[in-house]
Amino acid sequence: MKIREKTSSEVAFNRDYGKTVGEITSLKPRIECRNVNVYYGEKLAIQNVSLDVGCNEVIALIGPSGCGKSTFIRCLNRMNDTIIGCRVTGDIIMDGKNIYDNGVDVVPLRAQVGMVFQKPNPFPKSIFENVAYGPRIHGLVASKAELEEVVETSLRRAGLWDEVKDYLHQPGTSLSGGQQQRLCIARTIAVNPEVILMDEPCSALDPIATAKIEQLIDELRVHYTIAIVTHSMQQAARVSQRTAYFHLGRLIEVGETAQIFTNPRHQLTEDYITGRFG
Ligand SMILES: Nc1ncnc2c1ncn2[C@@H]1O[C@H](COP(=O)(O)OP(=O)(O)OP(=O)(O)O)[C@@H](O)[C@H]1O
Ligand SMILES: [Mg+2]
Repeated sequence: MKIREKTSSEVAFNRDYGKTVGEITSLKPRIECRNVNVYYGEKLAIQNVSLDVGCNEVIALIGPSGCGKSTFIRCLNRMNDTIIGCRVTGDIIMDGKNIYDNGVDVVPLRAQVGMVFQKPNPFPKSIFENVAYGPRIHGLVASKAELEEVVETSLRRAGLWDEVKDYLHQPGTSLSGGQQQRLCIARTIAVNPEVILMDEPCSALDPIATAKIEQLIDELRVHYTIAIVTHSMQQAARVSQRTAYFHLGRLIEVGETAQIFTNPRHQLTEDYITGRFG
């Protein structure tokens, strides 16, 4: 494969993130995955994947439909436990512990590693209640005033406060699709996560709503670690510092985003990013 010089915009891309390749590849891992396999019944959907998700990074997971992106990110908060016949082997380590160990309570785990789905899915409740529900059931607030503060902070972080502050008691479903997705992000933030998993969070949104979510992802990186699945290579390039390419259940390569899109090491990655496959 030909190696070419970076274009000036790619150089700018790196500079804008203010990190060198060395710094990016040496990110402190927040979640360490070692030799992860996922089976649906007899079928092996994820094969021997070892991948670290670094602190305060956005990592994009890309690859053709059916390659296992959703299956893989659902491992990170044990969402696959909800699928009958799904089995995960290998180690997924957070805070020195395997999240699949016996005795791990998935309820706090799923607050610590929150998830935003492809289609905005607000609860059939008010905007306020959508955000307040989690902190209340997780016992994170001691008073009504504290709850109101958490709701406001979460909506502010999700970039939605100014648009909804006068309508907090309207149904969440009365918002536009892009606002509903930001409400779902606020709901995830409200329970104090460290990691946010996003599975194609913009695929149901128009370009303006998508641009808002992308900007938000960049801001959220200061506070959280984000793993995002996307079919849009432009989106991966805009929001992530590292990109992982999956193919038929295997992790083919992972690296700095600009490197993956300009100098992929593997032919399969090159074929995908140049549109020859997928
Ligand atoms: N609930 C399930 N039961 C059985 N097989 C499944 C299930 N979910 C996914 N699979 C299979 O596992 C493989 C990986 O699927 P997955 O949904 O993770 O792919 P993906 O990369 O997210 O695809 P897409 O880009 O289309 O969302 C596919 O072969 C799929 O058919
Ligand atoms: Mg998927």
